[in-house]
Amino acid sequence: MRINKFLAEYGVASRRRADEMIQAGRVKINGITAQLGADVQDDDVITIDDKQLVRQEKKLYYYMMNKPKGVVCTVSDDRGRKTVVDYLPQTGARIFPVGRLDYATEGLLILTNDGELAYRLMNPTSEIPKTYLARIEGTLTEKDLNPIRSGVELDGYLTKKCKAHIVETNKAYTKVHITITEGKNRQVRRMFESIGRNVEFLKRIKIGQLNVGGLDRGEVRELTQEEVFYLQNL
Ligand code: URA
Repeated sequence: MRINKFLAEYGVASRRRADEMIQAGRVKINGITAQLGADVQDDDVITIDDKQLVRQEKKLYYYMMNKPKGVVCTVSDDRGRKTVVDYLPQTGARIFPVGRLDYATEGLLILTNDGELAYRLMNPTSEIPKTYLARIEGTLTEKDLNPIRSGVELDGYLTKKCKAHIVETNKAYTKVHITITEGKNRQVRRMFESIGRNVEFLKRIKIGQLNVGGLDRGEVRELTQEEVFYLQNL
């Protein structure tokens, strides 16, 4: 975050007044006199007239996003590809995705700088149900889904029991709603591969009861207080 915005958000002065203070050399970042337009990170020490600014509690941000396919689920990408964080408003906070959706998968993603909540949601013992819409190539019957429901082996790991049902089927494809309570790498795709089927489209539509309906591809919104409370108590 820009230093003048930071000082304004901390109630020190308006942005314009903050700029005057910076120009007068009264503001330091980590002991070095701040320049106009300098950036401030979360852990920088800011002083005004050599008095340390006591930071307020860290502001916590909670977003949900409808991740498009072709976007990586990391904070930065060494191959320069677009990441989910590129879709967020600029806050200066270190906001990261809670868990992963693979490159080709779209749908509901939670992003936050609340490490405690992220840890709880990502912890396998939480067993939070996540629902996906999977479009599978060709025709499937309910019976074909039985192995997936009871558990299939993925590289020596037996997947937990899960819910799955067909929502539409025809000669070309079958749409399935599948709800799993774990999150191994590319799990849904690999579960279908294990029964010889190819997932041609995958979208996460729900995490618990939170659903992505109403958000266009690439759209982001802040979670409501009720939604944050819901996730904290999942
Ligand atoms: N299962 C997958 O195959 N991919 C995801 O991104 C999430 C679940």
